[in-house]
Amino acid sequence: MPTPTSTAHNLSKELPPTVLTIFGATGNLAADYLLPALLHMDRENLLPREFRLVCVGRRDFNEEQFLNFILEKSAVLNKDIGEKHKQHFLRQLIYFKGDFDNPESFKGLSKMLEDRERPKHKCYNRLYYFATSPEYFAEIANILKRYGLLTSCESHQRKIRILVEKPFGFNLKSAQELNRLLLKYFDEDQIYRIDHYQGKETVQNLMVVRFANRLFEPLWNKEYIDHVEISVLENETVGSRANFYDQAGALKDFVQNHMLQMLSLIAMEEPYNLTPDLIRDEKVRILKALRPFSRESIKANLVRGQYRGYQKEIGKKSQTETFVALKTLVNLPRWEGVPFYLRTGKALPKKVTEISVHFKELARCLFRNCASNILTFRIQPNERVQLRLNNKIPGLGVVLHQADLDFSYSQAFKGEIPPAYERLLLDFLEGDQRLFIRSDEIEASWKFIDSITGNWDAQNAPLYQYQPGSAGPKEAERLMEKDLREWWTQ
Ligand code: BG6
Repeated sequence: MPTPTSTAHNLSKELPPTVLTIFGATGNLAADYLLPALLHMDRENLLPREFRLVCVGRRDFNEEQFLNFILEKSAVLNKDIGEKHKQHFLRQLIYFKGDFDNPESFKGLSKMLEDRERPKHKCYNRLYYFATSPEYFAEIANILKRYGLLTSCESHQRKIRILVEKPFGFNLKSAQELNRLLLKYFDEDQIYRIDHYQGKETVQNLMVVRFANRLFEPLWNKEYIDHVEISVLENETVGSRANFYDQAGALKDFVQNHMLQMLSLIAMEEPYNLTPDLIRDEKVRILKALRPFSRESIKANLVRGQYRGYQKEIGKKSQTETFVALKTLVNLPRWEGVPFYLRTGKALPKKVTEISVHFKELARCLFRNCASNILTFRIQPNERVQLRLNNKIPGLGVVLHQADLDFSYSQAFKGEIPPAYERLLLDFLEGDQRLFIRSDEIEASWKFIDSITGNWDAQNAPLYQYQPGSAGPKEAERLMEKDLREWWTQ
């Protein structure tokens, strides 16, 4: 069979005329993810034929200066985009100077959008990307309302959608307030709350492996699964994001969103079909069923850490955790008593994201040294799915050896794996909400996180120091050892 080539994107339909406005276009997110994705999509002809990109920033730039600034600033962009491509991209680009300290400066945005549409007597779909820091999200929504940027036109069916970056709120209360405000101006199907892990190929593959193979579903429950581990380890320190990170910490930066989303994909029931709301109904059932923490369970089941040198790096005293490990349960019949262990942190030995599903040992094994089966989803890097099996070592005796059935993306497919932001931007342009987060999912996950932050303090959750480059605080090992287990991802 020939090696399949990854289908970067399958564009099944011609996209309607669209103007995408990015608020926060001079920030790191835009430089490192959004503009590189859009430039690449432009080169691959994945953008609508009639497309305008409005980049809103505080600085005084014209279009070319803005693009040069991005090329200069971007850590990931191949700077050598070529003059022809640059000129082509520039033709679609509009830079708009807007400053939140002076909201009046947004007055002209509506007129500018109309002027661009008028010569062609067309209405463009108007899409707004909230890529600023989160304290401006509510202000952007208010600005859109105040300056008439939410209106549809009568003769055409213009669509208005917004994409809101993370973090969506800082706790349940602020997430609810933001939801309430947005839902005052928009319907739920116009709001795209992003979690870029949902756009990763390997995360999308979780549902496929579970529900497209006969093999797993009968075993996917408390009778056969011993425990699940989700590890997101990062080698980098907080670097230039110190201000934001110190307010969030590992729990809010990673567990509330990316990790709980992956957990819900592992634990959810099969949706009746693939419509966005049915998928999200199933995920939210899991998030609502997570056993909330109490003071006592925090002490027994959660570990916080901070790498040595963090406070020096950010230039102030801080009790913020850069590492967190916890054990939780999903209070549903399928998962009764099955622990889910989650662990994430910065300044660890390497960057790796992995989910491992550990099956129970056989009640009785004919051979010596039977080990339990482990299904591992390597989310990144070296993307793969592995299934650990017992095999016989060739020879006269019967000696067992554990080896993996190994499906590696780089060996199975030619071509690059499409980056998460491209996938999600394309879905936003097309109006597909499947990989975006609904208001009730966000609120359910914050409710769970609040049960931790509302109950932890120096007594029941001391902040353990760990050496940068180590595996995190020793107490995290003990969390597993107490249950006679150990972390699988090293
Ligand atoms: C972001 C977090 O959401 O994801 C960062 O705020 C983290 O702290 C980043 O480094 C990791 O993303 P990825 O795609 O590189 O794993």
